[in-house]
Amino acid sequence: MKLPLIATLFGICSAWWCTGHMLVAHIAQLQLSNTNPTILSKAQSILGPLNGDLTHNIANTFTETACWPDDLKTYGFNEANSLHFIDKPYNPQGLSTNPIPSDNIIWAISNFNTTLIKSVTAPLEKSIALRFLIHFFGDVHQPLHDATLFSYSFPKSDIGGNSFKIVYDSNINELHALWDSAIGMLETDLQRPLSDTDWAYMDQLAQWYTGNYTRSDLEMELKSKSVTTWALDAYTLAVDYAYYGIQVGQTPSPEYIAAARQVVMKQITLAGYRLADYLISALTSVAQVEFY
Ligand SMILES: *[C@@H]1O[C@H](CO)[C@@H](O)[C@H](O)[C@H]1NC(C)=O
Ligand SMILES: *[C@@H]1O[C@H](CO)[C@@H](O)[C@H](O)[C@H]1NC(C)=O
Repeated sequence: MKLPLIATLFGICSAWWCTGHMLVAHIAQLQLSNTNPTILSKAQSILGPLNGDLTHNIANTFTETACWPDDLKTYGFNEANSLHFIDKPYNPQGLSTNPIPSDNIIWAISNFNTTLIKSVTAPLEKSIALRFLIHFFGDVHQPLHDATLFSYSFPKSDIGGNSFKIVYDSNINELHALWDSAIGMLETDLQRPLSDTDWAYMDQLAQWYTGNYTRSDLEMELKSKSVTTWALDAYTLAVDYAYYGIQVGQTPSPEYIAAARQVVMKQITLAGYRLADYLISALTSVAQVEFY
C-alpha cells in the first residue's frame, strides 16, 4: 500500500498531506451532493475563475483544490504559510513560551469567511477565500496544527512536532509528519488531476470514514460552530494522543498507533461534516452574488 517517494517532495510539511485534505473536502462534497446540490454547485462556480492554468490544472474540482494552499508552497509562494496553524504552547515543564501570533488559522478562517460572504467582494477574492477555507477546515482539525511542545529538549518549541524526531518509515521521521500522513493511513499522494481509479479510491475512503463516524455519532461535536473551540479540542487531542506515550527517537507503539488512527479518522470526518455545514450557512446567505 505504501509508495515511499512523493512525500519527500514536500520537505517540512505543515498540513495533512494532500490525500487527507482531499478526503476532508470529498466527504463535504458527498454530503452536499446528497443533501444540498444547489450549495455544491454554488461552491463549484465560486471556484471557477481560478480553475485551469491559474492553478496549474490540478485544482479544478472541489476535492482537488483542498491541496491548493499547499501547492502554493510547492511553487515558492510562502507568504501565507503562518496561516495554516495556531501553535498553542503545550508546556508541561513550565518554561517561558512565545506569545501565539495573531495571524493564525483561526484569524484566517474568520477573515476568509468574511471575504466569501461579503457582497462587495469580487469573484477572484471569493475564489481564493473558498480555496483557503476548504484547506483550513482540514488543518484546524489536525491536532499538531493546534499545539506545540515546549520542554527542556525543545526550549524554543518543537514547531508542532516538526522537530520531534521519531522512527516510523522512509517518509516519516518526525511527529508532525506522522500525523499529517494520518498515521501512515494516507501517506500515498495521488497525482492530480485524479484518475478514475483515484476517484474511486476517494469514494471508498469517504465511505469508510463516514461509516465509522456517522453524523449521529458526532452529533454533539457538530453542534459547536466555534472555530476557537474546534482548535482547543484539537489541542487537547494533541496533548492526550500526539505527545502522550512517545519519546523523542522512539518508534510509536502499536497502542499509540491504534489510538491515534481513531483520532485521525474522527477528526477528518468531523472536518468534512463541518465544512459541509459551514458552506450551507455561508453560501445560502450570499444567494444574491453573481456566479461565474
Ligand atoms: C462567518 O460570518 C458570519 C457572519 O458574520 C458568522 O455568523 C459566522 O459565524 C462566521 N463563520 C465562521 C466559520 O467564521
Ligand atoms: C471503517 O473503516 C475501515 C477501514 O479503516 C473499513 O474497513 C470499514 O469497512 C469501515 N466501517 C464502516 C462501517 O464503514
